[in-house]
Amino acid sequence: MQIGSYQLKNNLILAPMAGITDRPFRELCVQFGAGLAVSEMVASNPALTRHKTTLLKTDHNGDTGIRSVQILGTDPRLMADAAKLNAQRGAQIIDINMGCPAKKVCSVAAGSALLRDEALVKRILDAVVNAVDIPVTLKIRTGWDMRSRNAVEIAQIAENAGIAALTVHGRTRACKFEGRAEHETVKKVKQSVSIPVIANGDIDSPEQARFVLDSTGADAIMIGRAAQGNPWLFSQISHFINHGKHIEKPTVTDIHGTLMSHLDKLYGFYGNASGVRIARKHIAWYFKHLGSVAQDAQSNINQAQCPSHQIALINSAFNLLTTDRAA
Ligand SMILES: Cc1cc2nc3c(=O)[nH]c(=O)nc-3n(C[C@H](O)[C@H](O)[C@H](O)COP(=O)(O)O)c2cc1C
Repeated sequence: MQIGSYQLKNNLILAPMAGITDRPFRELCVQFGAGLAVSEMVASNPALTRHKTTLLKTDHNGDTGIRSVQILGTDPRLMADAAKLNAQRGAQIIDINMGCPAKKVCSVAAGSALLRDEALVKRILDAVVNAVDIPVTLKIRTGWDMRSRNAVEIAQIAENAGIAALTVHGRTRACKFEGRAEHETVKKVKQSVSIPVIANGDIDSPEQARFVLDSTGADAIMIGRAAQGNPWLFSQISHFINHGKHIEKPTVTDIHGTLMSHLDKLYGFYGNASGVRIARKHIAWYFKHLGSVAQDAQSNINQAQCPSHQIALINSAFNLLTTDRAA
């Protein structure tokens, strides 16, 4: 999979997820086999560019993978400026968000709301592609709603503007996250353009990954929610696609070790107080894969206010788990 001048090591991509795909989580997913991990979106609003959370989102210090930064906005000039600024801050790929359905985003007609205005889409893409000399990618949904699924038209606009790769989440904006994603539209998009196309939506197993790749002809797949608490999914999919069989699932000890290293990165990146708070949702996702003994420990773990307490509670949950599984 090639994006502009960047050759990805495979065709498995971690989806941008606000509040989740921070540097620690991206690093982990790359370590476990993601060929690319896209950052959380950053607003193009200049008032926010020096904001502490924006600076953290665009902190690439020690980033191990290709640095793809997602920007969001509606004004072509501000989007162009945001692309330039992020390129100066170390982005190697700029991704444009036209897929986010959140009310906060759509009420200012950004994210997937832009899909209703093809002329504005063209102006934004032209402005951003012309502003930087790094590849620009685009992420969309299949359309605004079921009656206006214009992903093919948007894909052609994107190709003409010089977009280097296009991700299609197989839902309309109106679908939010309901129902199952469909990938028929991705297939149509793939057949109508010659830029790389990435399929996204509800890919949560090696079998589903292979099915989506085969049935759409997409060049790559993008995975979001299924990677939460489960960064191993990338190596599992990669092995299945390359060898046609499954690799061993991570053991309880593997999960414990990975969670500890994830926490260490979170405390280091955010500082102890925020790190402990942000870690809670990740711990819950890891524990979801470990059954009821782990889940029972969760509310207790959520009370911890400092790293040493959080770690001690997690260690005792894992001790219980090991004893439980040995019994
Ligand atoms: C919590 C959360 C945050 C998200 N944030 C973003 C975002 O910042 N930018 C974006 O383009 N998509 C965002 N998405 C959408 C995902 O990138 C992806 O398109 C969607 O979750 C479908 O893929 P999945 O079924 O593999 O999760 C977000 C999704 C979730 C669940």
